[in-house]
Amino acid sequence: MTKHLLSMQDLSSKEIEAILDKAAELKQKLRKGEPHELLNGKTLGMIFAKPSTRTRVSFETAMTQLGGHAIYLGMSDLQLGRGETIADTARTLSRYVNAIMARLFKHEDIVELARHSSVPVINGLTDIHHPCQTLGDLLTIREHKGKLRGLKLAWVGDGNNVCNSLLLGCTLVGMNITAACPRGYEPPADVVEQARKNAPKTGAKVEIVNDPAKAVAGADVIYTDVWVSMGQDAEREQRMNAFKGYQVNSQLVGKAKPDVIVLHCLPAHRGLEITDEVIDGPHSAVWDQAENRMHAQKGILVLLMGVKKSLRKPEGKGRR
Ligand code: CP
Ligand code: NVA
Repeated sequence: MTKHLLSMQDLSSKEIEAILDKAAELKQKLRKGEPHELLNGKTLGMIFAKPSTRTRVSFETAMTQLGGHAIYLGMSDLQLGRGETIADTARTLSRYVNAIMARLFKHEDIVELARHSSVPVINGLTDIHHPCQTLGDLLTIREHKGKLRGLKLAWVGDGNNVCNSLLLGCTLVGMNITAACPRGYEPPADVVEQARKNAPKTGAKVEIVNDPAKAVAGADVIYTDVWVSMGQDAEREQRMNAFKGYQVNSQLVGKAKPDVIVLHCLPAHRGLEITDEVIDGPHSAVWDQAENRMHAQKGILVLLMGVKKSLRKPEGKGRR
């Protein structure tokens, strides 16, 4: 059975730990200059319907360092961009490559891609989920704090794709998460409901609030992202008004624990959701976080392409 990573919910707590452990092990090997060509001769196809710096370069570099190869497939390079169906694209690519990574708009489209693919499909961001980002984030938090369970992450800003994957990821590993979002910009109800179902199994707590100060009180990690995600440009003005008061600045960071770390998935809009003072300041771990995308991708690729049996089979219809 082919395993896919479309949402954090496709992974069990044990599988997340296995990915993080593999990522940490391969990070050490890279540091020591030891080869780790676990995917020799394997190819990753990477479909991008939106721009990317980190996801593209980290996956491509990860594949090279693992002894494999990655092919960048922009929408205008593929017949998909001229109307070939997602299903036919999946069927064809499956005959060439060993896994497909896709960054798409609609989450249903990646579900469709996975449905017709006989090789693993990895979500490199959709409008609803960004699981690879969360895995890199958990690796970063674990490195900085020495553990995950029992920590508090405060999300400040839009209840978007990055927030959704964190809600699922944190509750699967026993981290408490409080999201502070303006009214009307809270994460979708079904994602919150799933996070609330995960939480009792790991001892995590989930809170959705509207007050950033309330979210950051006692926080070990503060996390923010852009106020206008890719594909939302028509809502820019309305969003700029809604998110006033949700900036991560020194005053807000001062309300968290003294050793709080500040994360941002990047790209950042300095002066909007985060100030220069914070992103360049002593609490910021954003560059470690960006680097860890590559190490986490290696953990994901090796587990999905190398040791297929260790991942749960997809749940089919309705899977997020
Ligand atoms: N954080 C992230 O996914 O960055 P890119 O859009 O540059 O890939
Ligand atoms: N929420 C952002 C994340 C970019 C990595 C977006 O979807 O544009």
